[in-house]
Amino acid sequence: MKALILAGGEGTRLRPITHTRAKQLVPVANKPILFYGIESMVAAGITEIGVITGSTGPEVRAALGDGSDFGASITYIPQDAPLGLAHCVLIARDFLGDDDFVMYLGDNLLEQDLAAFVSAFEEARALPDPPSAQILLKRVPDPHRFGIATLDAAGHVVGLVEKPADPPSDLALVGVYLFDAAIHEAVRAIQPSARGELEITDAIQWLITNGRRVRTELLTGWWIDTGKLTPLLEANRLLLEKIETDVSGTVDETSSLDGRVVIATGAEIVNSTIRGPVAIGAGTRVVDSFIGPFSAIGDRCEVLNSEIEHSVVMNDSRILQIPRLEDSLIGREAVVERTTRRPRALRLMVGDHCQVDVE
Ligand code: G1P
Repeated sequence: MKALILAGGEGTRLRPITHTRAKQLVPVANKPILFYGIESMVAAGITEIGVITGSTGPEVRAALGDGSDFGASITYIPQDAPLGLAHCVLIARDFLGDDDFVMYLGDNLLEQDLAAFVSAFEEARALPDPPSAQILLKRVPDPHRFGIATLDAAGHVVGLVEKPADPPSDLALVGVYLFDAAIHEAVRAIQPSARGELEITDAIQWLITNGRRVRTELLTGWWIDTGKLTPLLEANRLLLEKIETDVSGTVDETSSLDGRVVIATGAEIVNSTIRGPVAIGAGTRVVDSFIGPFSAIGDRCEVLNSEIEHSVVMNDSRILQIPRLEDSLIGREAVVERTTRRPRALRLMVGDHCQVDVE
């Protein structure tokens, strides 16, 4: 079994962060989203991993390397243009050969381990009438945003449709798929959709139409497609809920740590309250401040005389004299500062597509 992880895509809904950074490398709970996918592949025993990259390819390569840090071996497969998920399978043909594989969308985060999902497919493949694919479904409140499956009374999938205006069900396709080699014929047979992409949803529908069996599993734990601010902060919250306390940095006697808190090596907490779950990165200084629940502050940041809650602050940024920062995503090397400089005014340099809420 191999894995194909999709880390192309433009990340348009997370601009301006994604003007300079791959959306799959934005950190949640102080770890790039993509790392969770790679780690869960390796935990499921899959170490031969193909990674599809787009315009942010060099950055993705720099972050993952040859995969040895994860106990995996990574092959990079560049995609020249975002031509769809099925197109990724098309260009990965040489890497995949005729092996079964897991396809994983690099911006998806799942609570559930992949191991059980993978072994269910392997077991079904060993029985008579083996499935050619296995899909993971989750009930969603907004089915028009996803690929949607229709099941018959026995729970077998009978139809799939990509982002329907009039959804036939609320069962969304989660971004984790298992395939055998039949998918290669399917991705060659289908035509681009209205949005000009070769849809994996259409390729799976092609398998069904051509008499192949597609197994389904219903996802029980949470699943987040992290491509936008609100789901990203939600993923940060859900992952911080699972952290274990680990204090490697220094905490002075006038500071207090409540609940589960990670203070990485070289971080310094001075005269501050940290109320977990919170993760503070290596070399970060927090002075005269409050860091509230569900905050992840990256490496080498400085938080001075400020209060932060339910936010992600990326590496090398500084939050200075800010009475209250909530529900925020702050990029790298950013400075958010309250000053007493005259004239009293908001002085902003805000990237394209940003939203700034002033209290
Ligand atoms: C893609 C798939 C869709 C699936 C979703 C899961 O959508 O096309 O079928 O439900 O991922 O995240 P996209 O992210 O391309 O909008």
